[in-house]
Amino acid sequence: MAYFKASIKARRYQRRVRGEVLSLGNNERRMLRALLSDASRNWTLSEILEVTEWSDQVHVAGAGQALREAGLIEIRESSSRSVRLGPEGQNAASNGLLEARIWNWLLQAEESERNMQGLFSAGFERHEAGPGVGLLKSLGVKVESGSFVWEGEKEVTATIESRTSFIQSLEDSQHDAGSLDSSLIDHFQGRKGLIEIEDTITRNWTLTKAGVEYNTEGLEEVQQIGEITPELLQGESWRDAEFKPFDVNAPAPIPAGGRPHPMQALIERIRSVFLEMGFSEIEGDYVQSAGWNMDALFIPQSHPARTMQDTFYLNDPEKVEVAPEMLDLWAKVHEHGHDTGSKGWGVEFDKEEAQKGLLRTHTTVNTIRHIAENPHVPSRVFGIGRVFRQETIDRTHLPEFHQIEGIIHEPDANLPMLISTLKTFYAKMGYPDVRVRPAYFPYTEPSVEVEVFWRGEWLELGGSGIFRPEVTEPLGTEWPVCAWGMGLERLAMLVLGLDDIRELYQPDLERLSKMPIL
Ligand code: PHE
Repeated sequence: MAYFKASIKARRYQRRVRGEVLSLGNNERRMLRALLSDASRNWTLSEILEVTEWSDQVHVAGAGQALREAGLIEIRESSSRSVRLGPEGQNAASNGLLEARIWNWLLQAEESERNMQGLFSAGFERHEAGPGVGLLKSLGVKVESGSFVWEGEKEVTATIESRTSFIQSLEDSQHDAGSLDSSLIDHFQGRKGLIEIEDTITRNWTLTKAGVEYNTEGLEEVQQIGEITPELLQGESWRDAEFKPFDVNAPAPIPAGGRPHPMQALIERIRSVFLEMGFSEIEGDYVQSAGWNMDALFIPQSHPARTMQDTFYLNDPEKVEVAPEMLDLWAKVHEHGHDTGSKGWGVEFDKEEAQKGLLRTHTTVNTIRHIAENPHVPSRVFGIGRVFRQETIDRTHLPEFHQIEGIIHEPDANLPMLISTLKTFYAKMGYPDVRVRPAYFPYTEPSVEVEVFWRGEWLELGGSGIFRPEVTEPLGTEWPVCAWGMGLERLAMLVLGLDDIRELYQPDLERLSKMPIL
């Protein structure tokens, strides 16, 4: 009886072992053989690379993972953090920290010199003065009626000295963060370029009991079939072949080849969607007259967006000439509506203002000029182009960005046609949930805002509408025009899953190479 039980156990064990052998791929076999060459060792990455003769650590990670899942090895991780000087830190180590230099100067300066003027005369640059004074203020130096004053001189000196010796201690080598004063690490981490921190994870691989006892027979690397081809299936050899298991989650090296910039790839995709929908592409110049960029669109000459705060007006060319017939037409439309049925804005039109040179603030200038050049030809056109506005750079704004612009100019153009065109466009881009809401633009009536549903939220992506008669009539057309202008960067943020617009243009090759391929 006892014998019988034991033999069942043995058979089961063997089946399990054979099962494992079969499911181990060549990399796992090679790694397991390597570890078995010194079964009790706690292996490091470089030791494993040496014995396996692999050049890429990704094999160790991948095979290690599979061996761990099979219960044959254990992976231990330990993390460490090292600190070294950044470029500003190097500079501070040789020339002194900014606060130290200013403080030393303050301590020996005449009382009458202890002010901003004195600071500049002592040779401090403008870009140093602001941050430098900020640093001293946080140490307790005050500015009273323009002069620097302080109490607690000793404490200030002591703090600055401890910062200085921290920086000097890092001068020639990097240090383990654990051996350094963590409050100084925190302090310098908040200042640009002074220190650099690197976190490293070290892994060790050890065989488990099951691993040590592993039956080494069958650990030879075998010919495994990784790809099923028609040729293979035509023969008989596949019946007895061993197939390579395929794990889509296994770590693999990221190919280091070149690729188009994600923005360029996105532009190409948008282009192909519009071409597919029967649109043709148009282009235009960055430099335009205020007339074509704004007056043609019935934007009142007193509109706040026209002022220097929003628009980049040019010194060269300061003036961009516009055909006198257009200036006359716009003047009539703006002053009293001409024969559009509108009353106009009721204020005198300034033709000089209309000829000011500027950087286009939207690509609507391209579509409007296209209509003026082809007033009697039905057209469906789009353009993707760069536009310029005086914006402060932040998470969602850039002074240079792109718009996706388009029009449908034909006798029966109408609002449902506009909405279904935009819905089709976004659906083809992968965003089927689109809605429109009433909006206002000086040049369209009705005007609608386009929004897409993304991660539980409605996001505004652009404006659109039917051009007003005040816009179309001076252009010489009698047909309605569906028009839209949408933000490309906004769409890019959705497609690439970013929450900061600046990431699109930072030359960070590593991050760029990890962005999705479009
Ligand atoms: N030009 C508008 C913008 O820059 C968008 C728009 C284009 C609105 C065409 C209506 C029609 O936001």
